[in-house]
Amino acid sequence: MSEVSFAGRVAIVTGSGGGLGRAHALELARRGAKVVINDLGGDITGTNGGTAMADQVVNEICEAGGEAVSNYDSVATPEGGRSIVQTAIDTFGKVDILVNNAGNIRNAAFTDLTPDAIDALLAVHVKGAFYVTQAAFANMRENGYGRIVFTASAAGLFGSTHQANYAAAKGGVFGLANVVALEGAPHGILTNTILPAADSRMAADMSPEQFVGMPTTPAHGEPEMITAMVAYLASEENKHNREMYSIARGRYGRVFMGVAPGWHVNVDEPVATPDDVAAHIDQIRDLDGYAVPESMVAEFALIP
Ligand code: NAI
Repeated sequence: MSEVSFAGRVAIVTGSGGGLGRAHALELARRGAKVVINDLGGDITGTNGGTAMADQVVNEICEAGGEAVSNYDSVATPEGGRSIVQTAIDTFGKVDILVNNAGNIRNAAFTDLTPDAIDALLAVHVKGAFYVTQAAFANMRENGYGRIVFTASAAGLFGSTHQANYAAAKGGVFGLANVVALEGAPHGILTNTILPAADSRMAADMSPEQFVGMPTTPAHGEPEMITAMVAYLASEENKHNREMYSIARGRYGRVFMGVAPGWHVNVDEPVATPDDVAAHIDQIRDLDGYAVPESMVAEFALIP
């Protein structure tokens, strides 16, 4: 088994001044990548800011003999996205790897979520990932090589109480990642998405009522558990594209979106009515024989 190496590679890890991003950046650098440490340096809501968080990780990497540079821009604007990528190009000449990791959180019950709490999360998770990826993608396409990892969340796919803004934003990340994956593959750019769960300041902000029913048995929660998957997906070893992986409580597993055969109305039959749907609801809901389409077109192609 060959060892995952990033020798000669240039990586950007957004939000890598702490938490999961810091662990990703340290590991990529330890294995030879030159890394842009981007972090706004703010609190968990994504407000305030400073240079200390990013600089500290850069110092750690440089002291260990690696190469890294700080960037303090917010991912949430087009200018910020371009500047983060330009930092990589100006300092190290290119971008091979992008880990979209920056994130913020503002939890509240659904009807208590303010417009600010909604906008702030869409801005960082969806628009942020959008803007940094657009700029990085352009450089990767020129080079004919790229690895992109998006950080989504189980909350965005499966739901999590008091996190409607976070879940909606992370849901957007899945949609974005699917299209980036489809458009990138012909250019050697492979894109995958993780749904992590790990101990960090963000996880610590969850309230006990959000964890009702959660297993209490001890399990791995170290950020490095997430990093192992991220580093693999960011490496040349990885040949997979447009996939999703959940890494939680020590389990690494593929997540997928499937569609079942359901009930089909032939073109020579009458247009369905609500009563027809009621009559066939068990067949419509039946998951037997589901498929995992690789695009919208592939989904439609499954229909007889
Ligand atoms: P964290 O709060 O320690 O890290 C997030 C980092 O993003 C911070 O260093 C913060 O300063 C930075 N950041 C926030 N807004 C930014 C902006 N506009 N521009 C640049 N940087 C910005 O939290 P954690 O847990 O390490 O989160 C990392 C990612 O993993 C996030 O996207 C989060 O949503 C996701 N995630 C984490 C889970 C967990 O269990 N810790 C669960 C599911 C997803």
